[in-house]
Amino acid sequence: MGGAAADPGTPGGPGGATRTRLGEAPPDELLDTGERMTAEELRAHQLEHLRATLRHAYDNVELYRRKFDAAGVAPEDCRTLADLARFPFTTKADLRDTYPYGMFAVPKERVRRIHASSGTTGRPTVVGYTEHDLDVWADVVARSIRAAGGRPGQTVHIAYGYGLFTGGLGAHAGAERAGCTVVPASGGMTARQVRLIQDLRPEIIMVTPSYLLTLLDEFERQGVDPRTTSLRIGIFGAEPWTEEMRAEIERRTDLHAVDIYGLSEVMGPGVAQECVETKDGLHIWEDHFYPEVVDPLTDRVLPDGEDGELVFTSLTKEALPVIRYRTRDLTRLLPGTARPAFRRMAKVTGRTDDMIILRGVNLFPTQIEEILLRVPAVAPHFQLRLTRRGRLDHLTVRVEARPDAGPEQREAAVGVIARAVKDGVGVSVDVEVVDPYGLERSVGKIRRIADLREAGEA
Ligand code: DLL
Repeated sequence: MGGAAADPGTPGGPGGATRTRLGEAPPDELLDTGERMTAEELRAHQLEHLRATLRHAYDNVELYRRKFDAAGVAPEDCRTLADLARFPFTTKADLRDTYPYGMFAVPKERVRRIHASSGTTGRPTVVGYTEHDLDVWADVVARSIRAAGGRPGQTVHIAYGYGLFTGGLGAHAGAERAGCTVVPASGGMTARQVRLIQDLRPEIIMVTPSYLLTLLDEFERQGVDPRTTSLRIGIFGAEPWTEEMRAEIERRTDLHAVDIYGLSEVMGPGVAQECVETKDGLHIWEDHFYPEVVDPLTDRVLPDGEDGELVFTSLTKEALPVIRYRTRDLTRLLPGTARPAFRRMAKVTGRTDDMIILRGVNLFPTQIEEILLRVPAVAPHFQLRLTRRGRLDHLTVRVEARPDAGPEQREAAVGVIARAVKDGVGVSVDVEVVDPYGLERSVGKIRRIADLREAGEA
């Protein structure tokens, strides 16, 4: 699993190619009370809220009651933070099975907002928030914006989708809470986004990294150098992206590119945020979300520093408390740096569901992204196409040429990429360098993998 992400212990990642400028920490008076806790205060706060959350879930959600009873544990058995490991996991399937409201722990009248996850397969999952939950959510997103370098009075252009997706409305409430002016652009209508950014002069943009690339192409298409815009901070999340992508974005713009993480089941954006003064992975806002990393195969809790699946227990949520929720996201926990009391998570390598197993070798789209971004002839737009030839699965890396790359450079890039994948990942792939704009552009969360194996295409 390791090896795909740059070492987040080093600011900006290792090596000159990915080294990056660092921004300024918020002044002390802009830190909130949660952020000011010492490690000791944080642990005490976590234990108290963990016990209350276990009790709240057990008393009000039948599924938790059944699961705890079956595992022979009761809320009061949690006497230390380590005791959490005795409690059963929760999965997306639990939310699906109890769709829509079965896991809500408060009467429906107390639920102020519903969001839903995209549900690429089968039924969507629905999540809910009380007024207090919305308040906490706005606080953690506001804290994230400040950690990214945002300050009251600045303008935030939000190009995450608004609607059932948590990105748009979650970022929106947090930006307002941070005292910013919000431009709720949502996703899509790319030419208009460029116009709005030029006219309204926002300092901050919140958007998926893949849609930011679409916007940058549109700036360039309109003859505007993205480095000349007002934008200074980009808060990018909702999909995996790499140190190499950070370097690409920071080269083409005058932005500090920082990572924001979250998921609807746990809250939405703002579960963890990278600090602009270190750019070394994401500080998890542990006063609200308690993290563990487990071995996805054995379910064993792993020590900090080891790669595995991220698991969250909410500490302050009312409407939808989650106990040991399996995120399927792969990362590792690291000690705090810019906010010493809060642990960090390394940039997410990928999701267990996005792992391609090709002739016995595990591969994530982020590994391909790292390789492609080091090849000057190709653009950061790529897709992985999975097909079946006979009984063997086959992967084609389809990547766009940079507009200025000539036929020989494109030809050479095919060999360079195939060799780099073979050497770096250990598997043979086909490489197709397509024309600029030859691949579909993202307007939100990008889907890197096109799985055509069922369709029987070769
Ligand atoms: O994507 C929430 C969000 C919105 C986060 C905007 C950040 C910015 P979901 O639609 O429920 O919620 O998808 C959650 O997206 O489990 C990860 O697999 C992936 N994800 C989110 N942030 C990151 C990130 C939102 N920074 C799922 N890096 C998560 C890698 C991310 N993956």
